[in-house]
Amino acid sequence: MKAIISAISHFVPPNIIPNSWFEDKLETSDEWIRTRTGIVERRFLESGATSDLLVPCIQEILEKKSLKPEDIDAIIVATITPDNVFPACAATVQKKLGMSKAWGFDLSAACSGFLYGLEIGAALVQSSAYKRVLVCGADMMSSILNPEDRSTYVLFGDGGGAVLLEPSDDDEYGILDSRLYMDGRGGSNLYMIAGGSAKPTTVETAANKEHYVVQDGQSVFKAAVIGMAEVAAEIMERNNLKSDDIAWLVPHQANLRIIDATRKRMGLDPEKVMINIDKYGNTTAGTIPIALSELYHHKKIKKGDRLVLASFGAGYTWGAIYIRWAID
Ligand code: UT7
Repeated sequence: MKAIISAISHFVPPNIIPNSWFEDKLETSDEWIRTRTGIVERRFLESGATSDLLVPCIQEILEKKSLKPEDIDAIIVATITPDNVFPACAATVQKKLGMSKAWGFDLSAACSGFLYGLEIGAALVQSSAYKRVLVCGADMMSSILNPEDRSTYVLFGDGGGAVLLEPSDDDEYGILDSRLYMDGRGGSNLYMIAGGSAKPTTVETAANKEHYVVQDGQSVFKAAVIGMAEVAAEIMERNNLKSDDIAWLVPHQANLRIIDATRKRMGLDPEKVMINIDKYGNTTAGTIPIALSELYHHKKIKKGDRLVLASFGAGYTWGAIYIRWAID
């Protein structure tokens, strides 16, 4: 038995922030942002929280599948920007939608959160203990960005997506393989200084602006170029996949140059790479479900297509998942 993605949806807030918006606030330019990252615009949620990015996605999935909220067995929310430190964003989403029979939890793996979530969600389904598991990836990055730091403020956006995992007796389809990694030695290259138990929130930590994303861009870039490319190549080799076999690479959207290095390592043509960083920037755990959902809703994936999802992010965490698409 395998776990298949039986429904998918995404949501991005309507408020579009073009690169030019930053030009009179920071020493930056549309040209710098486009050429260094590939980002043209991103979305910022004007009011609400991360759970509000997921509620519309899950509502759409329930409607599409003619399911009631209580038909969901479990919900996993990958995020680094939960509505509250606790309770879990998963519990907030569960409450908002009345998914009274679902248990669940948040998963903190930054940009790789959705892939980690797929691995766990698929295992729950394959255990036969749970039939309908929602795996979500969403971040409201605007809530943790320093508006005075040009090296991070321009990179991120808000958005999220969700998939429904269900069992299938056909072993040829669904989530077929995964390789997931972590290396905590990269932790201090992309993190938040305060607000955790190591450095609890005080008046000083707030005054020192220690509750924002801090990134050593070049170090993360170098690790990402190698990490994402190598894990994507590894999943191809393990499954005897040639570049012609793969319909789409759906990569984490942090930087066009990182995506391109991965594509080249896989020997893929550029038209087989899903790219939407230009529209949404880096939505952290949201990038892969949003990209996959857009591909599906634009009718660019068909049943039987072989997809590789790949990510690299804070932790460091990285990985790749091989999926054979199961729905029309
Ligand atoms: O999704 C989670 C994982 N994160 C990533 O994968 C991100 C990985 N890193 C990157 O994508 C890139 O390192 C960045 C896009 C963050 C930065 O690009 P870069 O080519 O590595 O630039 P840099 O950090 O080497 O900075 C080059 C210059 C610096 O100025 P000097 O020292 O050369 O005078 C920066 O201060 O660009 C400057 N700079 C900016 N200039 C204009 C940094 N941010 C900006 C900005 N506008 N927004």
